[in-house]
Amino acid sequence: AGPRPLAGRHVLVTSGPTHEPIDPVRYIANRSSGKQGHAIAGALAALGARVTLVSGPVTQPDPVGVTVVRIESAREMLAACEAALPADAAICAAAVADWRTAREAGQKLKKIPGEAPPPLELALNPDILATLSTHAMRPGLVVGFAAETENVVPNAIAKRARKGCDWIVANDVSGDVMGGAENAVHLVTAAGVEDWPRLPKEEVARRLAARVAEALEPLAAT
Ligand code: C5P
Repeated sequence: AGPRPLAGRHVLVTSGPTHEPIDPVRYIANRSSGKQGHAIAGALAALGARVTLVSGPVTQPDPVGVTVVRIESAREMLAACEAALPADAAICAAAVADWRTAREAGQKLKKIPGEAPPPLELALNPDILATLSTHAMRPGLVVGFAAETENVVPNAIAKRARKGCDWIVANDVSGDVMGGAENAVHLVTAAGVEDWPRLPKEEVARRLAARVAEALEPLAAT
């Protein structure tokens, strides 16, 4: 085993998509695989952190040494995150659905021949990253992701300010990043913007975990 600079630290990680129910058998979702978030959780655990991974529905195996809390909807993800506090750091890698259906139908919606399709009214979901960033129990380091298809870095800089988080990991998802094995990211902090090379998601995770360890003061050995 290597050095464990995050020993004694608790880190909260969100990962995967959320599923927003339409009726008992249908939902709204997105293409997030959870690969990057799960890799980050595993990399933090490998550095000795106690990790709570709040994950939407994914097919990724549970990372070794991590406590996994499985949820489906954004509202469930927020509740699980708040229940996991306090934490020294929070990494919000989940692709949370921006909108849920305004009402979940109690019974399966029926297709009636000759009738118009049912309207889908949407409601805004809570923003978990923004909520954690302004929380009374705010983790000392809050990191968000920005998945963009254009103006990646300017959008990420604006997002960092708007969300109130410390760092944004910005990635261009116009190619094969979502569900893919590699990621090309920019790390946006108060100090500026770092362009990282295109790397396997596991390596992005290891680098990010190392940066988290650097940012959190080492705990005094007892
Ligand atoms: O606003 P946008 O979805 O582009 O921001 C992305 C970042 O915010 C990601 O870190 C994501 O996990 C987080 N987020 C969240 N809750 C939401 C929407 C986004 O935590 N409802």
